[in-house]
Amino acid sequence: MGETTRDREPAAAGRRNFYGRVHGKTLRASQKQYLAEDLGRVRLCGVTVEDNPSRATLDVAGLFGGRPLWLEVGFGGGEHLVHMAARYPEVGIIGCEPFVNGVAMLLGKIRSAGVDNLRIHPGDVRDLFDVLPDGSVAKCFLNYPDPWPKARHHRRRFVTQGYLGALARVMAPGAEFRVATDIPDYVRQTLEEVPVAGFDLVRQAGEGGAWEDWLSTRYEQKALREGRAPHYLTFRRKG
Ligand SMILES: C[S@@+](CC[C@H](N)C(=O)[O-])C[C@H]1O[C@@H](n2cnc3c(N)ncnc32)[C@H](O)[C@@H]1O
Repeated sequence: MGETTRDREPAAAGRRNFYGRVHGKTLRASQKQYLAEDLGRVRLCGVTVEDNPSRATLDVAGLFGGRPLWLEVGFGGGEHLVHMAARYPEVGIIGCEPFVNGVAMLLGKIRSAGVDNLRIHPGDVRDLFDVLPDGSVAKCFLNYPDPWPKARHHRRRFVTQGYLGALARVMAPGAEFRVATDIPDYVRQTLEEVPVAGFDLVRQAGEGGAWEDWLSTRYEQKALREGRAPHYLTFRRKG
């Protein structure tokens, strides 16, 4: 951790609402084993209020030996995260996911892939936003974020200014922000809100137009099976 302390209420992370699932169906014995044996090694220290009560900023340069830092928000089962870590060994990637079954799936995939340029926060991305240095993230992935389809729940979406303002702060000028979703109304809100937070839209594509290094995720596969078309949006942080 660095020496600076953010001018924020230390307890803020403890009071946040998280509306998604944290536990799913019973974990298999192998998944329990991955959590017990591997989580401590890949878990990012200094993110929770418990192990960093003063919310001191993370030493991200020390973490990955000065390599560029990428971030995946809500990695689900972790297939895209592990794919990116394997494909780009010259970067360091942090993934966030509060759903413990997803974390266990990811740990299994890390074992198979043998990647070591990956760390995770098994929790809310906002905990991480509290402690990441300004301008420290060179690329961010938001793949199939929770759609919150009811209008009264749209304010829970990631593409609202509470999340986006924090993301904009931690992203470097010129850094890329990728959003994949199968929900047309999520595309609408993304196109409205992300530029307000200080990003330019650089690319918008539909089915068949994924990024050349894309790996289809579990949620994308589910969307395709159910007849919903993917949308791929690319933004660049201004500055
Ligand atoms: C619809 S799933 C998509 C998972 C995966 N990205 C995929 O494409 O298969 C959305 C994921 O975002 C995670 N999520 C929701 N809110 C989050 C938050 N505040 N911080 C980190 N992850 C979050 C959820 O737990 C869930 O696993």
